[in-house]
Amino acid sequence: MRTVVKNIKELVGVEQTPQLRKQGKEMSELQSVKDAYLIVEDGIVKKFGSMSTLAGEDACAPSVVDATGRLVFPSFCDSHTHIVYANSREHEFVDKIRGLSYEEIAKRGGGILNSAKATAVAPEDELYDMARQRLEELMRMGTGAIEIKSGYGLTTESELKLLRVIRRLKETSPMTIKSNFLGAHGIPMEYRGHQEDYVDLVINEMIPRVAAEGLADFIDVFCDQGFFTVEDTARILEAGIKYGMRPKIHANEMAVSGGVQVGVKYNAISVDHLEQMGDAEIECLKGTDTMPTVLPGCAFFLNLPLSPARKMIDAGLPVAMASDYNPGTSPSGNMQLVLSMACIRYRLTPEEAFNATTLNTAYAMGVSNEVGSIAVGKKANFYITKPISSYEYLPYAYGENKVERVFLNGKEV
Ligand code: NIG
Ligand code: FE
Repeated sequence: MRTVVKNIKELVGVEQTPQLRKQGKEMSELQSVKDAYLIVEDGIVKKFGSMSTLAGEDACAPSVVDATGRLVFPSFCDSHTHIVYANSREHEFVDKIRGLSYEEIAKRGGGILNSAKATAVAPEDELYDMARQRLEELMRMGTGAIEIKSGYGLTTESELKLLRVIRRLKETSPMTIKSNFLGAHGIPMEYRGHQEDYVDLVINEMIPRVAAEGLADFIDVFCDQGFFTVEDTARILEAGIKYGMRPKIHANEMAVSGGVQVGVKYNAISVDHLEQMGDAEIECLKGTDTMPTVLPGCAFFLNLPLSPARKMIDAGLPVAMASDYNPGTSPSGNMQLVLSMACIRYRLTPEEAFNATTLNTAYAMGVSNEVGSIAVGKKANFYITKPISSYEYLPYAYGENKVERVFLNGKEV
């Protein structure tokens, strides 16, 4: 099937020579074509350019979409989410307002363990329906590719249940989906004081079962103060790597945890959170294949110090920004809002923020060769905005939904 999108006020985020990621000064590069057309064939970007060069059969091709007054962008890529869960946690939200910290809530058995309790008893079909609804909502807000973690199971059977839900989402959703096994997300109460036994369970039982069913693309660990240690993390990553799962970890949210270093050591595709970063952590990321990934929604929701994203870019690093959509620390997967926060709170320019939420997040889930920009041969994942004045309007008008129509694999959804 062929679709021609015509009269695009500005086609933003195009690449003539596709790159896998952008770092440092490159992050300011955002190519676009004004008064543009875009041709999609069989779900793939076939051609794009200026309307003045749209000739002959293309000009009168069937299935024409008129984008007069509207901008077209590559879909957002969200490389860090936990959308398979059973219950919301607004009561803890109120506890936090009253003064309890995230770590205090976790210590008394709330937080991740609260979600795990509810998720354990939820039937797989129910979890699937809830996650599918969340996914559809995200799709309508402009997200086209997403990574989804397990981690609200914390027993072998529950973790497998969550990962099977993610597999079903992969099979049924038009989104590009990657799955991440996060068995080491929290320490179950019965393992408190001897968490190495839980780490053994993850390594000896969970990872082999997850691998046997081919359920995970990535392996994740919450490597932080009060959660898993650097030693636990190293052991788990080594075990996952043996089964072909690439590391992608939670690091340095609560403390300078050594998470960045252990992630880099095991060639993690990304290290995520990074609220607590010293110069050593920035140095350690230089010249590596690891994408530093910042989660503005989590820092906003928990009132955490901001990750030094500006400093990292100025030091020549790439930066990705994802939603961290989860019930405890970021109950929103709205990437338009992440884009705004990137500019408003982290002082990224709009160009840098677009790259951080599209190409670089695509890289952080290993799919930047197929999504993350408008380039010939990539998946035709894009959205058409409402009539707006410029691309800067997108991060500027925070809280407003600017997306009018969404196309994934060339088809309107
Ligand atoms: O990325 N930091 C660890 N995991 C999640 C939070 C999970 C939760 O509180 O339910 C995060 O913020
Ligand atoms: Fe997370």
